[in-house]
Parts: sequence; C-alpha cells; structure tokens
Amino acid sequence: MAEKLKVGTLISGGGTNLQAIIDACNQGRIDAQIVFTGSDVDGVKGLARAKKAGIDTFVVDYARIIADCRKTRDIDSLLPKDFDLDVILGKQRLVDVEKNREKALFFIKSRVIAERQLLDNIESYDMDLLVLAGFMRVFTPYFIDRINTNASGHRIMNIHPALLPAFPGTDGYGETFRYGCKIGGCTVHFVDYGEDTGPIIGQKAFEIADGDTLEDVKEKGLQKEWELYPACIQKFAQSR
Ligand code: GRF
Repeated sequence: MAEKLKVGTLISGGGTNLQAIIDACNQGRIDAQIVFTGSDVDGVKGLARAKKAGIDTFVVDYARIIADCRKTRDIDSLLPKDFDLDVILGKQRLVDVEKNREKALFFIKSRVIAERQLLDNIESYDMDLLVLAGFMRVFTPYFIDRINTNASGHRIMNIHPALLPAFPGTDGYGETFRYGCKIGGCTVHFVDYGEDTGPIIGQKAFEIADGDTLEDVKEKGLQKEWELYPACIQKFAQSR
C-alpha cells in the first residue's frame, strides 16, 4: 500500500470541514493523515476538534501580529531576513499598489511577518499537502513560494463557498443568495498568487428553492463541502 498523504491543515473557525477530513482519514475513506492543525485565531472550535483527534495544534495570532505592526515605528525590522519586496511586488495579485502604496506595503509586510511564524511552525513537519479548511486569510507569494518548493507544483488547497469563478472573496454563500441564484455550490482549488483564482480541482452544486433562507443555503453548501474536500484530497493522494 502507498504511504499515506501527509496533510497539514489551517483553520480559522468551527472546523466542520476539518472534522469531515479527520473522519474520512480515520475511517480509511482517504489515503491521508493529518499531521497538524494551525489556526490564526486562538480558542476556536476547530482547534478542539483537532486536539480531540490527537492532532498537533498551533496558533499564529494574526490579529495581534497585525496590531503590533501598526504600533511599531519600524515594521521593516520585523521582516524576515529573506524578504525581498521587489520579488513579492512582481508576483502578488492581492492589493493595488498603484492606488495606495503605503496601505499596500503595510498589508504585504504585516502578512509576511505573520506568514514567517506560520512557516516556522509548518516547517517542523513532514508535509505533502497544505489544506486550508476555512482559513480566512490570504497568502502572499512569500508564503506560497516556500510551500510550493518541489517540482510537483501546487501544494496548497482551499475550499471556497461558491462556484468559482463566481463570487470570490469571503462571503460566497451570502453573495450567491443575494444575487438570487437558483444554483449554489462550492469549489476546491489550488491556491495561487490571486484571491480564489487558482486551478479548480473539484466542484459540487446544489439547488436553491424559492423559499430557502441564507441559512438554508449555507447548510446545503456545507453538506456538499464535507463530501467534496475529502474527495479532492483523495484525488491528490492518488495522483502522486
Ligand atoms: C466554509 O464555508 C468554507 O467554504 C469557507 O469557510 C467555511 C468554513 O467552515 N472557506 P468550517 O470552519 O469548515 O466549519
């Protein structure tokens, strides 16, 4: 039997997708094992789910790091030694540097400072794939290039609550619902330098009935996510 795929996970909240992946691993439905769960927010339910399953956890408190960056007079002194602004500006597609350079540079630098801390945790594990399971932060090329290091290319997966390329951003189900769509869905994709723009791995759709509320849409969507994410991880495991 092939060695199990070693999956690192990042979360920000309740972790129902994480739970679906934990269950799929434990029940032998996918050839994978979770090697850690990291969060950008302390105390979230997803961390308790991971601990209950015996998975190592860590927290990189983005909100505190960003607040510290705002307070300091010298943000550059907090940057990692291998930070190269020109390289990042040449690749990133997250912020409009022309529009407001100061704001854009603060965004990039503060995120890189947090990303370095994430990497310090992640790099102590042997990991084949990084799975974002409701992780509500975007990554700069600094982080992505330090995960996608081998020739096999993409190694970061994300789940998005809409049928991309429709409704990128943080409120996929909300936008699907308010637009009056009759079909909603979720997408698993690889992470590239843009926001929700990377190659699509899998999608699942569901019907939205006339009387459905936003809560109904979210519930239907999550049910599909819990099926889709383990299936996409298995696809990755089998394509090795
Ligand atoms: C999901 O809807 C996912 O698509 C989005 O954030 C939500 C996370 O839910 N990215 P959970 O933490 O897995 O319960």
